[in-house]
Amino acid sequence: MKASITVLPGDGVGPEVISEAVRTLRAVGANHAIEFDLREGLIGGAAIDATGDPLPPVTRTLIDGADAVLLGAVGGPKWSDPSSSVRPEQGLLGLRAMMGVFANLRPVVTHPALIPLSPLRAELLHDVDLMFVRELTGGLYFGDKTREMDAHGQWQRATALCVYTADEVRRVVRIAGNLARDRRGRVTSVDKANVMETSRLWRAVTTQVMRDEFPEVALDHMLADAFAMQMLRTPAEYDVIVTENLFGDLLTDEAAVLAGSIGLLPSASLASRRADDRIPGLYEPIHGSAPDIAGRQLANPAGAILSVAMLLRYSLGLEKAALDLESAVNGAIRAGHRTTDCAMPGEVAISTSAFTDAVIARLG
Ligand code: IPM
Ligand code: MG
Repeated sequence: MKASITVLPGDGVGPEVISEAVRTLRAVGANHAIEFDLREGLIGGAAIDATGDPLPPVTRTLIDGADAVLLGAVGGPKWSDPSSSVRPEQGLLGLRAMMGVFANLRPVVTHPALIPLSPLRAELLHDVDLMFVRELTGGLYFGDKTREMDAHGQWQRATALCVYTADEVRRVVRIAGNLARDRRGRVTSVDKANVMETSRLWRAVTTQVMRDEFPEVALDHMLADAFAMQMLRTPAEYDVIVTENLFGDLLTDEAAVLAGSIGLLPSASLASRRADDRIPGLYEPIHGSAPDIAGRQLANPAGAILSVAMLLRYSLGLEKAALDLESAVNGAIRAGHRTTDCAMPGEVAISTSAFTDAVIARLG
C-alpha cells in the first residue's frame, strides 16, 4: 500500500525525536510493504524565523491531501514574548483547525519496569491503562478573544469565549464510546457542570449519546477538579476519559506523572472519515519542545515513535504494524534501555538515537 505523510519537525527537541520516529516508520514500511511518500515542512517558531508565519502557505499545501501528519513540537523562549501577536502555538492550533482533528487520543499506560520513576506509590500504578479523548478544535482555545487598553495604553481587561455546540460534543463522545466498546467498557466524562453552561450542555449531550448509541458502555460524569484528584488516587479504575479542550490539556499533563515520564506519551488527533475511507490524523508526542535539552540527544523518542504506531493504526488501518512497533518499544524498555528522563539513579542513560536503534533491532 501507499501512504503520504507530511512531516513537521517544528522546534526544540521536535526535529531530533521526529527524525528517529521517521527511521522507525521506514523500518516498519520495509517489513510490511508500505510505500511512504514523506514530505517535510516548517511549522511553529522555525516557520516564523523562515517566513514570519507559524503555519505558512507552503506547509498548508503539503498537508492538503496527506493521509497523516507527523509533528514534533512547537514553541520556545525565543518566540514567547506575550506582547507579540505572532506565536508558534498559533501554527499548531491553526493546523488542528485546518485538518479538522476534533478528537485527540492520549493513551497513558504504566510500564511495569518504569513504575519506580513515578512519584506515586507503586501499588497505585499497576494495570493503569487510560485513554483520554480530548476535544481539540472547540472551547476556550478557539473562542473569540478580546483585549482592552485604557487611555494610557495599559492593559485593563481581556476576554476569552468558551463555546461548544451539541454537534461538537456528540462527535467526540462517539469516538470515546467506540473506543470504550473495544476496551473495558467504561467512559468517564469530565466537566464543570456545577459552574459552566458549556459543561451543562456537554453533560446533557454525553448522557444522551451514550444512552442511545452505547447502552453496553458504562458512563460516569465527574467534575474536573474532583477527577484531577481521583485520577492520582485510583488511576487503575478508569478506562476512557472524554473531556473538553481545556480540561483535556491539563489532565493529560497530570496523567503523565502516572507513566513516569512525559517523554513516553504519544497522541493521535483524528478528523472525520474521508470519502476514500481513511481517517486523516495528526500525530505528535505530548512532551512539547523542551528547549532546555534540545539538540543534545537527550530527548526520549518513545513518545514520537509510539505516535507513529498510532498513525499506522488509526490513519492507515495497519493494526499489526502498530502492534509490532509498540511491542518493539516495550521490549527496548524491558531490556533496560533508558533515555535520561527514564534512568533511575545508577542507571546508564543512552542517547535519543541509541534508544531508537534498540527499538529498530526488535522490529521483526
Ligand atoms: C498540547 C499543548 C498545546 C495545547 C499547546 C502547545 C498549544 O499544550 O498539545 O497539549 O495547549 O493544546
Ligand atoms: Mg498541553
